[in-house]
Amino acid sequence: MRILTKEIVMLEGEAVELMGWVAGRRDHGKLVFIDLRDRGGVVQVVFLPSAKEAYPEAQKLRAEWVVRVRGTVAKRPENMRNSAIVTGDFEIQASDLLVLNQAETPPFPLDTDGHDIDEETRLKYRYLDLRRSRLQKNLKLRHQVIHFMRNFLSDRSFVEVETPVLGKSTPEGARDYLVPSRVYPGKFYALPQSPQQYKQLLMVAGLERYFQIARCFRDEDSRGDRQPEFTQLDLEMSFVVQEDVLSLTEELLIKLVGAVAPEKHITAIPFPRMSWKEAMEKHKTDKPDLRKDKNDPNELSFMWIIDFPLFEKDKEGKMTAAHHPFSRPNPEDEHMLDTDPYAVRSWCYDIVLNQYELGSGSIRINNSEMQKKIFRMLGLSDKKIDADFGHMLQAFEFGAPPHGGIAPGIDRLIMILSNEPNIRETIAFPKTGDGRDPMMDAPSVVDPSQLKELGIVLAKKTKDR
Ligand code: AMO
Repeated sequence: MRILTKEIVMLEGEAVELMGWVAGRRDHGKLVFIDLRDRGGVVQVVFLPSAKEAYPEAQKLRAEWVVRVRGTVAKRPENMRNSAIVTGDFEIQASDLLVLNQAETPPFPLDTDGHDIDEETRLKYRYLDLRRSRLQKNLKLRHQVIHFMRNFLSDRSFVEVETPVLGKSTPEGARDYLVPSRVYPGKFYALPQSPQQYKQLLMVAGLERYFQIARCFRDEDSRGDRQPEFTQLDLEMSFVVQEDVLSLTEELLIKLVGAVAPEKHITAIPFPRMSWKEAMEKHKTDKPDLRKDKNDPNELSFMWIIDFPLFEKDKEGKMTAAHHPFSRPNPEDEHMLDTDPYAVRSWCYDIVLNQYELGSGSIRINNSEMQKKIFRMLGLSDKKIDADFGHMLQAFEFGAPPHGGIAPGIDRLIMILSNEPNIRETIAFPKTGDGRDPMMDAPSVVDPSQLKELGIVLAKKTKDR
């Protein structure tokens, strides 16, 4: 029966069977050594000439071949021990070798951290790149984080609900990815920039406590902390005020760090809170870095930015929602909506971590008159309001409870917990900085018959590219 390499430390003198990849081979005089790698780690296997059948086979082994090894667990001689690996005090003295598959020479080394390798090549051969221990670790951490979130929220009566990916545009400030409809030529679905409207509609539906590990899609320029598709811990609660959302999120993050990254320490608990105005005045940014020692890779400085303005001006000087148009004006400032709208604060909040915006949320408008007023102030015609958001306004007419929520970005959280320089290192199959997947070769041209079926004719310029 197969066991994992890391299990051999308890099995000195026992016969074992291991399966995995050849991480390296060294011939020393008459002995052949291989490092055998599996999901648990690495172990040294030694082939002695006395292993009549296995020995000549072992001489043929190359990097990344897939093998089954049978042998006996032995303590390595004192001076040959390797404290750098968990199994370093032991080796397997092989009696039997079976090659399960051969492998081409990988296009780059897999036993380094890989940071210095051209990213295009790493992503083209991502399935190999992912074999390196750094990325295996990141994916496992990602799993642990999501697992923790699911348990934490389930224990507090949150219900995980999947919302559609084929939907209608929700404004989050980026361009939508559009999906043409075959059945309704000329019509398009929009991929969600976030499940914002659906989660609010689930509050109208009486769920009261919703969460989702939600995939979001935004057609915007990529950066180190931005990908065209990314994942949020999206959550929403009914009958809450801002304080409830903040304290739940804070408890989740503190306990999560303790559970999955105990080597980290949080600068200040409870998380400091600062108004947007104070942050801008004192730190000239709405993402201040309150770490005590910026050289300490294990310091986590969480903080809340609250009291954001409801509106801001975009690059063209047009009024836009500072967060999104569903955020509720602070009732203390509502009287200024018509006279001094830019002075109106909203019940909007950001959680900031080490200079990154980790998540945003707000208490929402649950009244159709107020929602309509905000849309109008943002320059939407009644016709457009009705066409794009009529369903929300209507839903608010059917007993919408007070509600609010937040959505921390999971990729950014893993990036910071794993001390990675960008979120691509935390995503199994990310896009390049310019939005491509070099492995799958996406985006790609499609068959003309598919376009015809969709009623799409390409402009000549695009066709020639
Ligand atoms: P917002 O647009 O601020 O809010 O997004 C919330 C969090 O999602 C992450 N994020 C991203 N991560 C990687 N790549 C991207 N392109 C990207 N864009 C955003 C960030 C960010 O803080 N619906 C609201 C939330 C709410 O009001 O409840 C929303 O999506 O970590």
